[in-house]
Amino acid sequence: MQARAPALQKTMPDFSSRLIAWQKIHGRHDLPWQNTHDPYAIWVSEIMLQQTQVTAVIPYYQRFMQRFPDISSLAAAEQEQVLQHWSGLGYYSRARNMHNAAQVIMDEHGGRFPQDFESILSLPGIGRSTAAAVASFAFGQRQAILDGNVKRVFARHFLVEGWPGLPKVEKQLWLLAEDLLPATDMVAYTQGLMDLGATLCSRAKPKCGACPLKQTCGAYQQQRVTELPVSRPRKATPQKHTIMLILRRGNEVMLEKRPPSGIWGGLWSLPEIEPDMRPEDAARQRYGVHAEALPVLPSLSHTFTHFKLDIRPQPMTVLRIAPQAREAGLVWLGLEDAIGAALPTPVRKILQSLK
Ligand code: ADE
Repeated sequence: MQARAPALQKTMPDFSSRLIAWQKIHGRHDLPWQNTHDPYAIWVSEIMLQQTQVTAVIPYYQRFMQRFPDISSLAAAEQEQVLQHWSGLGYYSRARNMHNAAQVIMDEHGGRFPQDFESILSLPGIGRSTAAAVASFAFGQRQAILDGNVKRVFARHFLVEGWPGLPKVEKQLWLLAEDLLPATDMVAYTQGLMDLGATLCSRAKPKCGACPLKQTCGAYQQQRVTELPVSRPRKATPQKHTIMLILRRGNEVMLEKRPPSGIWGGLWSLPEIEPDMRPEDAARQRYGVHAEALPVLPSLSHTFTHFKLDIRPQPMTVLRIAPQAREAGLVWLGLEDAIGAALPTPVRKILQSLK
């Protein structure tokens, strides 16, 4: 379809005004990051909400804002602390980027969140849609958002064919997003798109009967709601395997800091070895720890965006620590302290099962 077809031009004003009217009555108004124009508070919420559902975000958001109430407190914090407050939310590069961005705002914008759209967009971890959400919620700017929920609303309403992750399809969706922007009421419009996508126009079992856009929704009219948007071409998810060593010395357990980037970057984790290594050899050679293997605990499976990880927890009793044992990036912590550290979710689960 053409983004600026005549039929669309007729629907456009109508689309946004119906959405705005619906949002004001039926949309969400009391989420913790609403009813504020503080760009920092809005930015934090938008980053947390990028890959995570509202209900999961709320308690993290509240703890995060309590501990880091403004840009300067976030910029001044240790990365460790920031990651600790993100521990369990996943996609940890979001937290590392936010921490970096807060420091950029201190250094380059005098500690004030920038208002200029290009400046917002150039901050670490802020893409086009997130920049637009912040600019619209905080500053009322006329900027188009396009997250996964909004793509679904547009693909259905305007019968956009093809998987929305394809650059060609995404480009069409951005043109639509820009064409549909209302002249005023940007906050209600932007929130309305998000609310409609999350509540009525859900992927499975959409509630079309209650939708304010059903009269003009192409997919609804043609009974193609379950077909659109077209799904991602399915590739088999690769399966990886790892062994996590639980080195116990009394009540203490050894944690290892992960490299600064990549999966679980900067978090504390259990030492990992390849499945073909003998745990006793790995513990001695890599960590300078003489330890005895106990029976393995039940495996855990953790799903990442691009692969699945099967984790075999290997408990070990420490007999002796070699005097030359390497220290950097390794800590021994009591079980309770370890559980409170900046850990990935499956590692926290393993440690909790030891209590
Ligand atoms: N998802 C992304 N941004 C959101 C917001 N402001 N409210 C609810 N869900 C969202």
